[in-house]
Amino acid sequence: MKPSAEIPPTALNEAAALIESKLEERLNSFDLPPHLYEAAKYAVVNGGKRVRPALTLLCAEAVGGSRESAISAAVAVEFIHCFSLVHDDLPAIDDDDLRRGKPTLHIHAGEAMAVLAGDLLLPLAFEVLSDGQYGYSQQVRLMNSLAYATRKMVVGQVYDTLGGLPKHFSEEEGLQEIHRNKTGALITCACVMGSICGGASAKSQLAIATFGEATGLMFQIVDDLIDLYGASEHVGKATGKDAPAGKTTYPGTIGVEESIEAVKQLKIQAELALAPLGKQAETLRLFNLWMAHRTR
Ligand code: IPE
Ligand code: IPE
Ligand code: MG
Ligand code: MG
Ligand code: MG
Repeated sequence: MKPSAEIPPTALNEAAALIESKLEERLNSFDLPPHLYEAAKYAVVNGGKRVRPALTLLCAEAVGGSRESAISAAVAVEFIHCFSLVHDDLPAIDDDDLRRGKPTLHIHAGEAMAVLAGDLLLPLAFEVLSDGQYGYSQQVRLMNSLAYATRKMVVGQVYDTLGGLPKHFSEEEGLQEIHRNKTGALITCACVMGSICGGASAKSQLAIATFGEATGLMFQIVDDLIDLYGASEHVGKATGKDAPAGKTTYPGTIGVEESIEAVKQLKIQAELALAPLGKQAETLRLFNLWMAHRTR
């Protein structure tokens, strides 16, 4: 992993800056009991990298739209992601105490509040998408895309912790299915929602969806490698837990070298998918490069 590629690209910093205040603003706009509001804020406004909202903004730009047009969709996808993290960390799932460098929400506010704050972020995402910023047809497509990806995420979490993969799947097919569902689908959705907000043509939307599928799977393989090699203080969450927990991971299933090769191949696949979009997608291409080399 090249140290130079580890510096977060300017685009991520810009997107994170743009989205950070909006996340809090949108949370503030809902009428919530103070302790529920506090728990939701703890889950959301807490130093996440904001990869998914950044993808949403950059994909809008890559199809010729503006980043601004995609802000509500970016907020919505990050709400779903934060909900998934809060539930992922619960004792009944991954049982983690550290997230984004801080105690997980169930440690901070108790399990009941963590379950409910996660539950809350799910409808908030859809309220944000349906607040009138988007036209009717755009709104329906955005909501459908986010609902579909959220369902896939939940299915993936079940495959990850409780099994249930189709019996005819080989070990490698099963591995890919877990990762594409639990993580890839929401990342693909972040990209597709950006393309919808940016008013993409059918051809551009297909390019973005293909990009999102490759980069989404790549993201979870890199996460698996980070669990293996990252220091918890650097990563902001516990590491070295997947193998002892018996998790199905890329390095654990196909090996480390093969996982690094898979990341490389998916990075190339993602880049190739962007080719039809030309120069407009250059920032997105650089962002994808960083995602392949990230260490946290
Ligand atoms: C972590 O996602 C969970 C996965 C799906 C791999 P991120 O690495 O994007 O976590 P944050 O949002 O930056 O904390
Ligand atoms: C997360 O996978 C997938 C989610 C749906 C949140 P992991 O369990 O590997 O994510 P981390 O490593 O805890 O962030
Ligand atoms: Mg998990
Ligand atoms: Mg986890
Ligand atoms: Mg992980």
